[in-house]
Amino acid sequence: MSGFETQLYDGLLIAGLACAAGVFVLLHFVTAPYGRHARTGWGPSIGSVSGWVLMETPAVAVFAAFFLSGHGCRPGWVWVFVALWEFHYVQRALVFPFRLREAGKRIPVLIVVFGIIFNVYNGYLNGRYLGVHGGAYGPAWFADPRFLAGAAAFAAGMAINLHSDHILRNLRQPGESGYRIPQGGLFRWVSCPNYFGETLAWAGWAVATWSLPGLFFAVWTAANLLPRARAHHRWYLAHFAEYPTARKAIVPYLY
Ligand SMILES: NC(=O)c1ccc[n+]([C@@H]2O[C@H](COP(=O)([O-])OP(=O)(O)OC[C@H]3O[C@@H](n4cnc5c(N)ncnc54)[C@H](OP(=O)(O)O)[C@@H]3O)[C@@H](O)[C@H]2O)c1
Repeated sequence: MSGFETQLYDGLLIAGLACAAGVFVLLHFVTAPYGRHARTGWGPSIGSVSGWVLMETPAVAVFAAFFLSGHGCRPGWVWVFVALWEFHYVQRALVFPFRLREAGKRIPVLIVVFGIIFNVYNGYLNGRYLGVHGGAYGPAWFADPRFLAGAAAFAAGMAINLHSDHILRNLRQPGESGYRIPQGGLFRWVSCPNYFGETLAWAGWAVATWSLPGLFFAVWTAANLLPRARAHHRWYLAHFAEYPTARKAIVPYLY
């Protein structure tokens, strides 16, 4: 990286980490207006399937472009991280949206724009880091307890996220748009195991890569999804008199 880019990169990383705390607080007061929290007053909207594809595709492409632009991409081991990232994001951008049972629901363009900005920012930070510094990950790193623990957390988080989204999807028949109480899997303990899985996966990524851009992503995922899980949980309690009272929002027994 040039001196200018190093300064830019460090500035984006530090500013991004600092902003996450503010976002975490803000999202306890303002819930992003899509899905069950959709409401008027947020400007024009687009179909939710197109919205998800537009929001998430930059995470596939920007990450790959910046990874390939670095000189550290030649050694074989770093491709393990590229495969984990792309597995997650190809699923999220190009598979998940087309399996939604959303009956024509819409998402505000503003939310899509925020999503694109975040995914470009995050794709640059993580892709560029692995492209430039990825050569440092050799065979020894892949036997290191930090990698093993992080990779296990990533795999467990992804499995929980995919399984929980599968349960949610099957609460509706094609063409339906209403809500039911989800049961099974980690729904036994929390209202939003899909968010729990997502947060665990990116915490695992941060540990497995042992990197500041990995930490940035993990912190932003938690800052975004913990307050949203609280909002979902309150919504369930307000809409279903029989909702299981022992369930927490996102962290079993705690939060
Ligand atoms: N990394 C990040 O920061 C981040 C941010 C946001 C989302 N995500 C991930 O993206 C995925 C989707 O997020 P999301 O916010 O849309 O999740 P969500 O609110 O849990 O909804 C997921 C899908 O299930 C449906 N659904 C949820 N609860 C339902 C219920 N009780 N009955 C019937 N259908 C139900 C939703 O319909 P409606 O849309 O009609 O409510 C939506 O189609 C998740 O895997 C999440 O982890 C990641």
